[in-house]
Amino acid sequence: MWTKESLDALVREKLSDYLFVVVSNREPYIHTFSGKKINVEIPPSGLTVALDPVMQACGGTWVAHGSGNADKRVVDKDNKVSVPPANPRYALKRVWLSKEEEIGYYYGFANSALWPLCHIAYTRPVFVESDWNTYKKVNEIFAQSVIDEIGDRKAFVFIQDYHLALLSRLIKERNPNIITAQFWHIPWPNPEAFRRCPWQEEILSGLLGNDLLGFHIRHHCNNFLETVERAIEARVDRERYQVTFKGKRTAAWPFPISVDFEAISREAASKEVAAEMRMLKARLGLGREMIGAGLDRLDYTKGIPDRLRAMDRFLEKYPRYRKRVVFIQAGVPSRIRIPQYKRLNEEIDELVEQINWKYGVGEWKPVIYLREHLPPTTLMALRRLADFFVVSSLHDGMNLVAKEYVASRFDEKGVLILSPFTGAARELTDALLINPYATDHFAEAIRAALEMPREEQQRRMRKMREVVRENNIYKWAADIITELVKFGSGE
Ligand code: G6P
Repeated sequence: MWTKESLDALVREKLSDYLFVVVSNREPYIHTFSGKKINVEIPPSGLTVALDPVMQACGGTWVAHGSGNADKRVVDKDNKVSVPPANPRYALKRVWLSKEEEIGYYYGFANSALWPLCHIAYTRPVFVESDWNTYKKVNEIFAQSVIDEIGDRKAFVFIQDYHLALLSRLIKERNPNIITAQFWHIPWPNPEAFRRCPWQEEILSGLLGNDLLGFHIRHHCNNFLETVERAIEARVDRERYQVTFKGKRTAAWPFPISVDFEAISREAASKEVAAEMRMLKARLGLGREMIGAGLDRLDYTKGIPDRLRAMDRFLEKYPRYRKRVVFIQAGVPSRIRIPQYKRLNEEIDELVEQINWKYGVGEWKPVIYLREHLPPTTLMALRRLADFFVVSSLHDGMNLVAKEYVASRFDEKGVLILSPFTGAARELTDALLINPYATDHFAEAIRAALEMPREEQQRRMRKMREVVRENNIYKWAADIITELVKFGSGE
């Protein structure tokens, strides 16, 4: 079983001569002004949630976009700040982008082109040449920041996600001795879908600058290899899951990402969370109702309208549950400058209003919608209160929210309703799997969850907890680091 300590020991043994650098667009800690005070926010990102404990164990430097309005205020002359703020373990080095760069690179090419291209959620990708040019420029800015950080030291650079597809090649052009790995946190679609991207060759060439390329599941690796075969002249080795391109070899392997199981489980059992559960119930005016919950970044891939429609159908079909079940949807606003995200927000508002009008009685409402950034203790309380918890993504690389729910339920109670279109469904086979597009069947699963006997809940939850306990975030990092050091030793 991998733990923070054993990962720390692995890093000391294998990486002691190297500087470990993580690079991502999103930063793990965001400093913002609240009046004259400076607050630290933790963003709603599976990527940062997963990697922060890894960095706390490994040490090193995390390079990311400084997106908070107080970020510049707290860094030193090298643009660095030590984090976590309460107990510093590693350096966060911030990269500054202008508004224009953020618009073209983040809102534009990354989130209006690549995100919808890779998620089959029926949202059309938008390809704009000037966005692509800005994306290239911003990848150059990140590359320079990484190169400056490393200087003439030996280094492993671990790049994250679709924002930085060109980075490894740019780094290697400047310093070929740096070893790079990249993890693609979102799905890789089939070649037919990916070829819609007018710059697919450049993106593939950029990614094939890496020594190691990681995806959540083997299916995404297969899609990637097929895309390479069809799009560029490269040798693909299906046995070893390797590509040779321009004389360089890249391995494309699955590494299912996870969470810090023990830490979440421990925190969920704390007195603070128990107190917060009581306060939250009082604040939301909850009595003896059974509680369902969903907890997402407000993104069209998460299937939030679909789960609200299922709730509607459930209450329509089973009137005996009216006034007996409440569904709490917590949603953190995200990428709201993009039109599809604005429309999603309107759609959710309308659905909530409609369901509450249809089934509400006096003060009582079946859906409570919290459209805000909730603190970690409140999120934990919500997971603990949820008799059933819904993850209904239309498409999702992994979905760590599902694993967080399982890790929080040390009491072995509660039912996870999970979409099969998430990477997590490959591991959490004891969840109730639902097709979010099939409303009636989804509504039936809500009933089944509410009526599931305690023993069955416990049996399923226990099995899922075993899976997440063993395949935790430290195992994910250890597996990647173990492979990465082989490149350093020339194996
Ligand atoms: C997904 C992506 C991450 C991203 C997160 C939050 O999980 O894979 O790279 O950080 O969404 O999105 P945001 O745009 O706020 O960083």
